Amino acid sequence: MRNTGKNISITVNDLSVSYTDEGPVDAPVIIFIHGFPLNNSMWDMQVEALKDQYRVVAYDVRGHGNTDPGTYDFSIEQFAVDLINFMDAIRIEKAILCGLSMGGYIALNAVNAYRERFDALILCDTQCMADTPEAKEKRMKSIAVIRENGLELYANESLNNLFAPESLSAGIEEIAAVKMMIMKTSEKSLISTIHALADRKDTCSKLPDIEIPVLIIAGKEDKITPPSVAQKMHVMIKASVLCIIEHAGHLSNLENPDEFNRQLTRFFGTVY
Ligand code: MLT
Repeated sequence: MRNTGKNISITVNDLSVSYTDEGPVDAPVIIFIHGFPLNNSMWDMQVEALKDQYRVVAYDVRGHGNTDPGTYDFSIEQFAVDLINFMDAIRIEKAILCGLSMGGYIALNAVNAYRERFDALILCDTQCMADTPEAKEKRMKSIAVIRENGLELYANESLNNLFAPESLSAGIEEIAAVKMMIMKTSEKSLISTIHALADRKDTCSKLPDIEIPVLIIAGKEDKITPPSVAQKMHVMIKASVLCIIEHAGHLSNLENPDEFNRQLTRFFGTVY
């Protein structure tokens, strides 16, 4: 039997996975994967906008939100396996997958390894490249900052990179919500995920093999994965559409939800 609602949970192997599952049972399924170090609530505005027409699932990745860290080592590949196990547990055979940033890394890994499970893919504010040595070094420095000062300083510095300057100066309410999501993540899970991000493999060489429809979204002011990076993926994926969201940084779904949701709905119309 299907359970529905917000922040319900299911045991999947070593994890209690927390997730939101709304919308008609027989409708096409969209699964949302959040960025780092956030949780499924970052997709609330998309869930609300889509749930009348689609079955919408948004879950907390291992060690984030209300999902346990479990006992396995954190890696992007493990997160992709967790997703497939979760889909099996809630009996979803096929879905459209939508991931933002780290969620996009997980989505690319899942689509590459379990191609038959996905009808379409949405890559938001993400990239296919692995970390450069400089990026890895920066991540190790942020681990040192967390160990020395705790989460608050790290959270405040992250906000400046996640949001567009205009969102920051307007003081949109999503800034406080995102800070709370970061502060809610345990220090241990945060550090394990930073290592997983630093160790992730390049997926660019596999992009030309993706044959399902792909929507690539980037916030125009994204400093972490700028539109130029999205453009490169667009060139490499045959059936892809690129959409740049105005008035948005790295968290395009939160900073300009109306435009973001419009693009999702338009894309779904081309898939189903
Ligand atoms: C995210 O938003 O998930 C992160 O920026 C990903 C990353 O640090 O590579």
